Amino acid sequence: GLALIAGTAAAEFPDKPVTIIVPFAAGGPSDKIARDVAEALRKPLGQTVIIENVAGAGGTIGSARVARAAPDGYTLLVHHIGMATAPALYRKLSYKTPDDFAFLGLINEAPSVLIGKPTLAATNFAELRTWISANESKVNLAHAGLGSASHLCGLMLQNAMKATMTPVPYKGTAPAMTDLMGGQIDLMCEQATNAVPQIEGNKVKVFGVSSAQRLALPALAQVPTLAESGLNGFNVAVWHGMYAPSNTPPAVLEKLNTALRAALKDPELIKREEAVGLTVVNDDRLQPAQHKKFVEAEMVRWSGVIKAAGQYAD
Ligand code: MLT
Repeated sequence: GLALIAGTAAAEFPDKPVTIIVPFAAGGPSDKIARDVAEALRKPLGQTVIIENVAGAGGTIGSARVARAAPDGYTLLVHHIGMATAPALYRKLSYKTPDDFAFLGLINEAPSVLIGKPTLAATNFAELRTWISANESKVNLAHAGLGSASHLCGLMLQNAMKATMTPVPYKGTAPAMTDLMGGQIDLMCEQATNAVPQIEGNKVKVFGVSSAQRLALPALAQVPTLAESGLNGFNVAVWHGMYAPSNTPPAVLEKLNTALRAALKDPELIKREEAVGLTVVNDDRLQPAQHKKFVEAEMVRWSGVIKAAGQYAD
């Protein structure tokens, strides 16, 4: 019967390529992280892992695609804090978190940086703050949709600065970065993953780091944290995790989690991630139970921030 078929399929899993859905446009931090992980999964899984970008609505369109996918382990999701923020932001979500997902493990933590267009006169956060207060709603702040990391960092920034800027949504921070470098956009709070190369190339100006500590990266070591620049206690870290549809057979989930744990020990992956300020999680945070508990706690934390901001997506 069905159980036998499911059992056989699980035993042979994976006997065809596995797809990772990235819920943002290609070229952004989520895409880069997913591609690093896909590359490192190939050996432990013994299969090709392909990336499919399904962008829009702050990552909820791609997440919904995975929630509804066949629970056979061949369609996975790599996503960030948007997993925890969407339930509070989107009143009509077509999926339930955590119920519709199986948790395969956390991947990394990513700091964000406050970056600006190269033509901005300000050369540090203090000067930028003066300029923002003088221009407020004329200042446009890019993000990748409600619930995206850039949106949430921007929300926390405006709360901390008691300033209201004009948000400009994109399908991912890669297209936003193009407009920032071109001067169409003033500011963005972007994951360091995607900003380090642009900062090193002097294509954007950097005004602060969102994490509690400065980053050890050569390009960012001199950049103060926003907390030390006057936004006391400011600390926004973006985490990424991997998910499958909730009814995926346990034997398949087991294989996927084992492969992910091996992939995150791959020296090449660790080197690539640390080169852009990412911290690959250690083994205990890779346990599915811990991953699920962490996301549930983040859902509570972010729903408070979102209710305070009074911003919802209908
Ligand atoms: C991206 O990959 O575009 C980013 O993760 C979007 C965001 O969350 O800001």
